[in-house]
Amino acid sequence: MVTRKPILAGNWKMNKTPAEAVEFVRALRPKVTPYPQVETVVCPPFVALPAVADALRGVKIGVGAQNMHWAENGAYTGEVSAAMLAGLAGYVIIGHSERRQFFAETDEGVNKKLKAVLAHGLVPIVCVGEDLAQNEAGVTDSFVSGQVRAALAGLSASQATGVVIAYEPIWAIGTGKTATSEVANRVCGLVVRGAVAGLYGEQVAQTIRIQYGGSANEKNIGELMAMPDIDGALIGGASLKVDAFAEMVRITAEQR
Ligand code: 13P
Repeated sequence: MVTRKPILAGNWKMNKTPAEAVEFVRALRPKVTPYPQVETVVCPPFVALPAVADALRGVKIGVGAQNMHWAENGAYTGEVSAAMLAGLAGYVIIGHSERRQFFAETDEGVNKKLKAVLAHGLVPIVCVGEDLAQNEAGVTDSFVSGQVRAALAGLSASQATGVVIAYEPIWAIGTGKTATSEVANRVCGLVVRGAVAGLYGEQVAQTIRIQYGGSANEKNIGELMAMPDIDGALIGGASLKVDAFAEMVRITAEQR
C-alpha cells in the first residue's frame, strides 16, 4: 500500500495585507512545526509572498501562490509568471472555481498553467469540482472526471505523479455546507483517482494526492482525513484563523 503524505493548504483568497500575513505565519509557526508528518502550506495574495517567504525561510511550512499566468513573460498586464514565483513559492493553486467563475478560466488555460508550473519545479494544486446545478442534475462524476482529464492532458506519468488535485464542490465553498465525508471520499477516490488511473494506471493513481475543499474546518477535518481517498484539504475561511488552521494540522497529524 502506498502512503501519501497529508497536505493541508490554506487558500487565503483576497485576504490579509503583507503585514497581517507575516503576523499570521509568525504565530502559526510554533503551532505547526511539531507536526512534520503533515505538509502545511499557506497561500497568501501575491503581494504578501516575498514577506511570507522571508518570514518562513528555513521553516517547514510551504508557501503557495493562488494563481499565475502560463507564459514566461510578456504583454499580459497584471499577470505573474511561474518564473517570477519560483524562489518565493513552492506551490501554485491552479483553476480554483472562483478563477473559473469570475475570471473566465477554462480547462485549456488550466492545462497550460499546469505545464508551466511543472516546468518551474513548483507543486501545482489543481482545483476541480461541480456546481450545485450539476450536482443536483447528477452529472458530478462525468463533469469532474472531465476536468481532471482536461487538466492533465499531455502530461507524462512522472509529471502527473507530482500534481495535487483538490476536489472542491462549488456548492460547499464558503457556504458552511460540507460534503459528507463519504460523498467527498467517493468523488476523490472513484472519480478523481479513477480518472487518473484511466490515464496513467493504478500506480500513479495511488501515488497522486487528492485534497477535499469546501467548508473544511477544525470540527470536520478529523472525519474527512479518516477517509482512505482524502489526502488533505484546501481550506478557505478556517485557514484565516491561526488557531483553527493549526488545530486542523494537529488533528491530521495525530490521525496519521
Ligand atoms: P472555504 O473553506 O471557505 O469553504 O473555501 C474553500 C476553498 O475555496 C479553498 O480553496
